[in-house]
Amino acid sequence: MAPVLRILGIETSCDETAASVVLRHADGRGEILSDVVLSQLDEHSAYGGVVPEIAARAHVEALDVLVEEALAKAGAGPDNIDAIAATAGPGLIGGLIVGLMTGKAIARAWNKPLYAINHLEGHALTARLTDGVEFPFLMLLVSGGHTQLVLVRGVGDYVRWGTTIDDALGEAFDKTAKLLGLPYPGGPAVERAAAGGDEKRFTFPRPLVGEARLDFSFSGLKTAVRQAAEAAAPVTQKDIADICASFQRAIVRTMDERIGRGLQRFHEEFPDMPEKPALVVAGGVAANKALRAALLGLCERHGFRFIAPPHHLCTDNAAMIAWAGLERMALGLPADDNATAPRSRWPLDRQAQALIGYGKRGAKA
Ligand code: KG4
Ligand code: ZN
Repeated sequence: MAPVLRILGIETSCDETAASVVLRHADGRGEILSDVVLSQLDEHSAYGGVVPEIAARAHVEALDVLVEEALAKAGAGPDNIDAIAATAGPGLIGGLIVGLMTGKAIARAWNKPLYAINHLEGHALTARLTDGVEFPFLMLLVSGGHTQLVLVRGVGDYVRWGTTIDDALGEAFDKTAKLLGLPYPGGPAVERAAAGGDEKRFTFPRPLVGEARLDFSFSGLKTAVRQAAEAAAPVTQKDIADICASFQRAIVRTMDERIGRGLQRFHEEFPDMPEKPALVVAGGVAANKALRAALLGLCERHGFRFIAPPHHLCTDNAAMIAWAGLERMALGLPADDNATAPRSRWPLDRQAQALIGYGKRGAKA
């Protein structure tokens, strides 16, 4: 049996400072012993988006306290921690430097191995921590910086089936909110406004729908929203609600078609799965109820299990980073050395081509 392992995880790639201690039992089960997250939302909301310089400074101020808190809550320290895992990319370089250097310093001081983790791998493997999902499975990551459909074949073995060729899905929500004068972050505000609106009043485009490739595009939708708002100016509360409802409907229908294609492709590539395959969601947009309902319906129709980890583990956190480290350590994969550098870009799938516009914002994952 594999040994029991305990890892301290650190996450600083965007606007959440986070530290966590996660345990991996001998039978492979994960247990979160502590999970502390400090959101910088208030610092950035006045700017309508994440300001890299402010984010990096906030990580410096908060991280050491958060690490102490995570260790204390877990009853962990140099005597029982087996390794340190820190996000090394992709993300905002200032924040990554803070987290990775802190991880290296602790690893050095305690004489422990350091795992430099890809943030996207953290999202990809979370469903194994929460639900023990077996490989292979499909992961849909929908956040402020990424929109990707990824085939997860194993630890470190990912194939990107689709990605956005322009804006990320969360970014489309945020930009729509900004256009309509709604607060940041835009997703929850648009969803709230949409609840009282007429989703059939505007017909917004559904880019790439019908195409065999599994990519996404949302910038045309944003333009259509702007045109609708300009045509209705000065916009009333009713106009805002109708635009939000119509926008959300276009998104949901687009995702329904795109992901439906992905599920079909999975069945074609893996016709002999011993049990129902899993579609796992991650990222802040996974909180959207209309999107969740559509994905659940899709999974039922295509014979998939729909796995949505709890919200705090779908958004950025350090438990997923610790867990990615645990998966790597349990497999005997090598730790990283002290020369490891942070990387603002770091695709999960090393074979995948960078698409035009992809990672333009690149800050959030
Ligand atoms: O994963 P996340 O918390 O942070 C990063 O991107 O790193 O995702 C944040 C994104 C934002 O764009 C936000 O507007 C969006 O998730 N979001 C939502 C909802 N809640 C958050 N989008 C649509 N509907 C929601 N309920
Ligand atoms: Zn993320």
